[in-house]
Amino acid sequence: MDADALEKSIRHDIDTADGYDALEQTRIKYLGRKGLVTGLLKDIKDAPPDERPKLGAVSNKLKKLTESLLEEKLSVLRAAQQGSRFYKKPHDATLPAHDGMTGRRHVLATVFRELKDIFVGMGYTLASGPMVELEYYNFQALNFPDEHPSRDEQDTFYITDDMLLRTHTSPVQVRYMEENKPPLKIIAAGRVFRNESIDPSHAAEFHQVEGLYVDTDVSLADLKLDVEIFIQQLFGSKTQVRFRPSFFPFTEPSAEVDMTCVVCQGKGCSVCQQTGWIELMGSGMVHPNVFRAVGYDPEIYSGFAFGLGVDRVAMMKYGIDDIRLFLGNDLRFLRQF
Ligand code: DAH
Repeated sequence: MDADALEKSIRHDIDTADGYDALEQTRIKYLGRKGLVTGLLKDIKDAPPDERPKLGAVSNKLKKLTESLLEEKLSVLRAAQQGSRFYKKPHDATLPAHDGMTGRRHVLATVFRELKDIFVGMGYTLASGPMVELEYYNFQALNFPDEHPSRDEQDTFYITDDMLLRTHTSPVQVRYMEENKPPLKIIAAGRVFRNESIDPSHAAEFHQVEGLYVDTDVSLADLKLDVEIFIQQLFGSKTQVRFRPSFFPFTEPSAEVDMTCVVCQGKGCSVCQQTGWIELMGSGMVHPNVFRAVGYDPEIYSGFAFGLGVDRVAMMKYGIDDIRLFLGNDLRFLRQF
């Protein structure tokens, strides 16, 4: 057998050896006293003197190769054996049980679901929009004047001149109306961003649910009815609701919606700062300029909108006193829900 054929055969035999015994047989076949490689080395002394150096080099190379391939294969066999020992370890019924660290739904996700179920039950469908938003949708199309203070970089995280992290879910109103014709009744839920200084009731990332209803004869009475039904479904039928005049560029008239404090039932406590009322959402009748921006005729259509702070709802429902806990990733907090 010439050197090339021998090398091929060595590689093949070692490669296909499927256990310690087979590997040992292979070792003996090539490196044993009567082995093929050993034979080559022995033949050197019978060769003509001028061929000996070349023959020696070739034989030694084959010997070294065989040794290192055997070594390599041995560790592969050992690893496989250890692996199978690990998997075959018998079941130990005395070990402590799994500690129950399974995943669970985040408390905000639970609240989102509850809100969604209530609104869907009232005939709203779901819409959504991007968190990285154009200045146009976040402000301009919503009738914010150019010099409006909330466009200031102190409140808004700008990404480029005309792109930002949305500061509210209201831009979804505009996006949805651009793509759809009335009548429409939608909610849009999601995360919003503001460059706030952080404290127990202010976070730079929080969550809103936006509502929008547009048709030919929508009135303030429709808004009041839906908001009342929604709040009473969420917090119980004894909860009272009040509308306070307010201002938003994209609604006219605008109202802030308060509900009786669920902690003290309206008697006055530290949560509601002794007022008996909790501020829950902004709302109003869609401003004609918003309709114009999306190509709706404000002479034909009217609508109401509202925006609800989801974190605040969760805090009220579960008695949570620090908004920062929601995104803090503290398992001791998260596992309570
Ligand atoms: N976008 C407002 C905010 O983030 C909340 C809001 C107020 C939304 C009135 C509305 C609305 O849809 O009609 O403060």
